Amino acid sequence: MKEDLIAIETKFSAEIDGVDGLAALDDIRVAIFGKKGEMTAILRGMGGLSAEERPVVGQIANEVRAALEDKIKEKKSLLSKLEMDEKLSKEHLDITLPGIKREAGHRHPVAIVTEEICRIFMGMGYEIAEGPHVETEYHNFEALNIGKGHPARDEQDTFYVEGGKVLRTHTSPVQIRYMQNNKPPIAIVAPGKVFRSDEVDATHSPDFNQIEGLFVDKGIHMGHLKGALTVFAKSLFGDDIKTRFRPHHFPFTEPSAEVDFSCFGCGGSGCRICKGEGWIEMGGCGMVHPKVLAACGIDPDVYSGFAFGMGIDRIAMQRFNIPDLRLLFENDIQFLKQF
Ligand code: PHE
Repeated sequence: MKEDLIAIETKFSAEIDGVDGLAALDDIRVAIFGKKGEMTAILRGMGGLSAEERPVVGQIANEVRAALEDKIKEKKSLLSKLEMDEKLSKEHLDITLPGIKREAGHRHPVAIVTEEICRIFMGMGYEIAEGPHVETEYHNFEALNIGKGHPARDEQDTFYVEGGKVLRTHTSPVQIRYMQNNKPPIAIVAPGKVFRSDEVDATHSPDFNQIEGLFVDKGIHMGHLKGALTVFAKSLFGDDIKTRFRPHHFPFTEPSAEVDFSCFGCGGSGCRICKGEGWIEMGGCGMVHPKVLAACGIDPDVYSGFAFGMGIDRIAMQRFNIPDLRLLFENDIQFLKQF
């Protein structure tokens, strides 16, 4: 039995030394210590030994077992390390490389300014309204008192699309849609894209953004319009900003005006931004034409209202000191990142 034990140790020591995989090593462990293992068989046979032999053989058995167990343990850790090394070298996982940064999205300056403007008007009790980009000629022109022969309908300015529709040339058709479906008192702003077949340069683009305002109730007059736009200007650009209203003409307002804000670049003394004027044109406005109210089923003898339309892109350019309108449409990540 002693010889058997020595033989087991010699045989399996050599096998363990020669093995080159964790699975094969485990097979050896089972061949020694498993239920049908050679060591197990010997230990089982010890019952048949004499009382003198038993402790002697028992001690040798223990030594052989301990030696083989240690050897397996050692080999196992060696093989694990080798397998891990191989896996790592195959995966080319260089954990010293800096991680890939996930860039957070950036809000577009036009979106930032649109939200700011809307928030100011919402603070004054206005609601946000919307309308389609593809409009009927009725909503974009006719209902706004822009007759068939009016120059604004000239194909030069308007994109015509299939089905006799147009890409809206301003946000004013939202006025019509809202008044058709709602009764006064009305207080809305409607931001959104508009389209004109314009040339592209530093201040012109075929699609740009406007915000329309409409306020209709009993007894509304020009003073309310001036007050609303002046409060708006000061909220957006600071208390020092002044507003100026110049007589103008729009078919859908009477009287009509253009509204200027004093230049925030120079405060009104004249600079490069305002081209020496001291004022910057922000948009058109006026008292809603009685014909427009009537076309929407609102009695102009009972109600009156004001409307305005301002260029959002222009406000964004001034707000962020952006020199060229085209930057707002090119979606250059390097540019947008700055906001
Ligand atoms: N719709 C006009 C434009 O695009 C602006 C405007 C809106 C004027 C509302 C008066 C009232 O030029």
